[in-house]
Amino acid sequence: MNQTAVPVRLENIVKRFGAVTAVETVSLELPAGKLVTLLGPSGCGKTTILRMVAGLERPTEGKIFFGSDDVTQLPAYLRDVTMMFQSYALFPHMNVFENIAYGLRVTKRPNDEIRERVAGVVAQVGLQNLEQRAVQALSGGQQQRVALARSLIMQPRVLLFDEPLSNLDAKLRKRVREEIRELQQKLGITSLYVTHDQEEAMAISDLVVVMKSGIIEQKGAPRELYQAPVTRFVADFIGRANFLSGTYNGSSATVGNYSFAFAQPIQHGNVTVMVRPESLRVAKDGIGLEGKMHSVAFLGTTTEYTVDTAAGQLEGVMAGDAPLLAKVGEPVRVQFANEGVYLIQA
Ligand SMILES: Nc1ncnc2c1ncn2[C@@H]1O[C@H](COP(=O)(O)OP(=O)(O)OP(=O)(O)O)[C@@H](O)[C@H]1O
Ligand SMILES: [Mg+2]
Repeated sequence: MNQTAVPVRLENIVKRFGAVTAVETVSLELPAGKLVTLLGPSGCGKTTILRMVAGLERPTEGKIFFGSDDVTQLPAYLRDVTMMFQSYALFPHMNVFENIAYGLRVTKRPNDEIRERVAGVVAQVGLQNLEQRAVQALSGGQQQRVALARSLIMQPRVLLFDEPLSNLDAKLRKRVREEIRELQQKLGITSLYVTHDQEEAMAISDLVVVMKSGIIEQKGAPRELYQAPVTRFVADFIGRANFLSGTYNGSSATVGNYSFAFAQPIQHGNVTVMVRPESLRVAKDGIGLEGKMHSVAFLGTTTEYTVDTAAGQLEGVMAGDAPLLAKVGEPVRVQFANEGVYLIQA
């Protein structure tokens, strides 16, 4: 890890714009050198939090720390923070070298130092031999790397990203997000990343913070959020899920005619049973929720199917080459594999 990386701490942050409360008592720690993502629907306060960390917006209440420094009142230009946007905001009339060197020119660093530091970050982000290229003659991914290099050359304490990939096409988005992840891990700079794309969040983050209407709904490692979402909102937002009304007695859960052994520290009584699509097991008979195969779609890598039951329609997914045990219209019994089940307080 980067020895100079600092943790960033938000303490009881509230942000109001007149009558609008954009952020409501958010407390959060970004571990030193890690990448934390704010994930949530439009308007939930992601950008507002990012802008407060950057110093572009003052919190109405609460404090922000970089390490042990209280930066709450510190202006943006003294925070050593850089922010990346979807529009890379590169200077179109300058080549790659000059775009990257810009911040050092502004601060009047000597030419030798500029040459050396540009060469350093160019190598870090893999833009060798493109220094003299006009930025308009670069691919979207390369432009993204120029923007990143331009940030890194300022040796920021914190890197901020606001939906940096949203104007790239799907394939490129995937590649660039892997590059950002790789680079961020290599550099070990504490980073805060904003997106409303759950797959992107899961792919790049050490920690994902799910937000809803200005508050933190749940935070955790991607796998933790997927396996143990505390609310239906999180379960729905992180991956796909079936939600069934059921009951829980401490050792087993029941949905309709189907009871299965299950243990989770949660209040007994009515619960919502969340079942991931890959955790459905379909058989022709035996134990399981009674249903009828409704649809089957072979998609190559996977096969997706739906089953109608008295508890509602269930979505299932399995490996594309796995044998399907029932045809459309046939009666089936559906079981749930425990690792994809989680009970949510009803
Ligand atoms: N300068 C402002 N003045 C008034 N209201 C604002 C201002 N900035 C943000 N808001 C409001 O605060 C709330 C949160 O906005 P924010 O931009 O943080 O959302 P977001 O999660 O980044 O959404 P998106 O995914 O659409 O970018 C919204 O209701 C927004 O309208
Ligand atoms: Mg935003």
